[in-house]
Amino acid sequence: MTDFPPLKNDLLLRAARGEETERAPVWVMRQAGRYLPEFREVRLGHEFFEICRTPALATEVTLQPIRRYTGLVDAAIIFSDILVVPQALGMEVLMNPAPSFPDPLNTPDDIAKLRSEVDVNKELGYVFEAITMTRKALDGEVPLIGFCGAPWTLFAYMVEGGGSKTLQKAKSWLFKYPDESKALLARIADVCIDFLVGQVKAGAQLLQVFDSWAGELAPHHFEEFSFPFNQQIAEGVKSKLAAEGIPLVPVTLFAKGANQSIALLAEKSGYDVLGLDWCIEPSLARDLVKGKVALQGNLDPNLLYGGKVALEREVKRMSESFKAGGKTKAWIANLGHGITPGVDPEDLRWFFECVHKYSAN
Ligand code: CP3
Repeated sequence: MTDFPPLKNDLLLRAARGEETERAPVWVMRQAGRYLPEFREVRLGHEFFEICRTPALATEVTLQPIRRYTGLVDAAIIFSDILVVPQALGMEVLMNPAPSFPDPLNTPDDIAKLRSEVDVNKELGYVFEAITMTRKALDGEVPLIGFCGAPWTLFAYMVEGGGSKTLQKAKSWLFKYPDESKALLARIADVCIDFLVGQVKAGAQLLQVFDSWAGELAPHHFEEFSFPFNQQIAEGVKSKLAAEGIPLVPVTLFAKGANQSIALLAEKSGYDVLGLDWCIEPSLARDLVKGKVALQGNLDPNLLYGGKVALEREVKRMSESFKAGGKTKAWIANLGHGITPGVDPEDLRWFFECVHKYSAN
């Protein structure tokens, strides 16, 4: 592994390991994105996946929020997308402007069209290069997060051929072809494991798995079709790193909307941190996880449109709820989902400032 500059701000890593911190570390999902004029500027000249595939461009946009919010934001997340894994499996994915797959998986027979063996170094080496380049450019300012999509969320995109309000096609697969669905979910998980291990080798200091569509499943279906494959990833990544003598990094699961399964996730998923959306009270989540994992979240992203007064009030309230009568401990402040394109970057600055103020011990 490459030698990197020493880390100057390890708040994120300490909170992820369950420690008490002087204040909560903070970053936001999609922090490198269209709400930033400097990102829109880069996008004018380059297609979305071109940026992902060009390490110098991916490094540049990953650093944009770190530069703008120096001293306020405590992590960088590598600029990429969850849909690079379906691409690695051989599927074509367009971004115009929402993701679409010209040739989705219509029936289990279509699984034969996927690559049977995925060499992540060959298919996703550009992500590893971008991570190494970014890690050097960060110069130890903040830790770098690597990520991938969760098997259920990726499966849903691959079957639906894009986003969907009802997930009717993806769910009909689960119910009609449960065995074929599970075999495909396990295959996706295997690619995710190699991809995440490669990201750690390239320099990622924490990993996050995005299960954006977890909450679309009934709790017992989440436990059957999503949970086991997320668990497979956590176990697989940790055992592969250990087998190669590489130090483990904390792993976060953001299973959006899976709030009924939080106690199970804390007990058995194998993740170090659980990301929360805004539909659960932080103090309740604290009670449910019984100190077994750290928590991340969970402000409603639309509060960034609510004006400074409401934003401050709600960050204060969130901080008190995460502290639950105690101190800031095992908490990474974030939104409950990604930041959206219409946000004024100065309102995000205010969010960061309020977190610094109200999460302080
Ligand atoms: O967080 C970051 O700053 C790192 C980069 C990142 C992107 N996508 C960049 C992106 C991350 C972590 C993602 C994850 C991702 N991608 C998820 C999981 C998180 C979530 O929001 O639920 C999902 C479901 C996707 C798939 C995806 N990519 C969608 C549905 C879209 C279009 C909708 C949208 O928000 O624009 C994308 C495009 C995308 N990924 C953009 C960015 C900055 C905007 C595209 C553009 O620049 O035109």
